[in-house]
Amino acid sequence: MIEIKSLSKRYKLTKQQKRERGTSGDTKHVDAVKDLNLICKPGRVFTLLGPNGAGKTTTLRMIATMLHPSSGEIKVAGFDTVTQGPEVRRRLGFLTGGTGLYDRLTANEMVKYYADLNGIDSAI
Ligand SMILES: Nc1ncnc2c1ncn2[C@@H]1O[C@H](COP(=O)(O)OP(=O)(O)OP(=O)(O)O)[C@@H](O)[C@H]1O
Ligand SMILES: [Mg+2]
Repeated sequence: MIEIKSLSKRYKLTKQQKRERGTSGDTKHVDAVKDLNLICKPGRVFTLLGPNGAGKTTTLRMIATMLHPSSGEIKVAGFDTVTQGPEVRRRLGFLTGGTGLYDRLTANEMVKYYADLNGIDSAI
């Protein structure tokens, strides 16, 4: 189960974002995720839909413990993504469109490689 409560993520604007935005609105920050609440129940497929820039990737990266929230909390199987990162990562598989794969490995070798990196017992 994934539980997200009052989740927000605020980034500092990059130089390019500052150029593009000019002087309108907040000239220092972007609120990528603002007060998000959701629950993904066990055994269910959950789809996060939204227009470009809605904060989907940011949310997934926070669930995967790659980014810390600015505020709010995320629990994966009861474990907090900020204070219990290793426990969360042990229970999570995260594959994004940008994940690089090694050409020289077969599919089986790839699975074994990542399983070894994550300390998964080869008997499983
Ligand atoms: N590292 C960063 N620094 C500054 N702003 C960022 C950063 N990453 C994302 N953003 C901004 O945060 C907002 C949300 O971006 P995010 O990539 O999470 O959206 P998305 O829903 O995944 O979009 P897409 O559908 O285009 O993949 C956007 O305004 C984006 O420009
Ligand atoms: Mg995205």
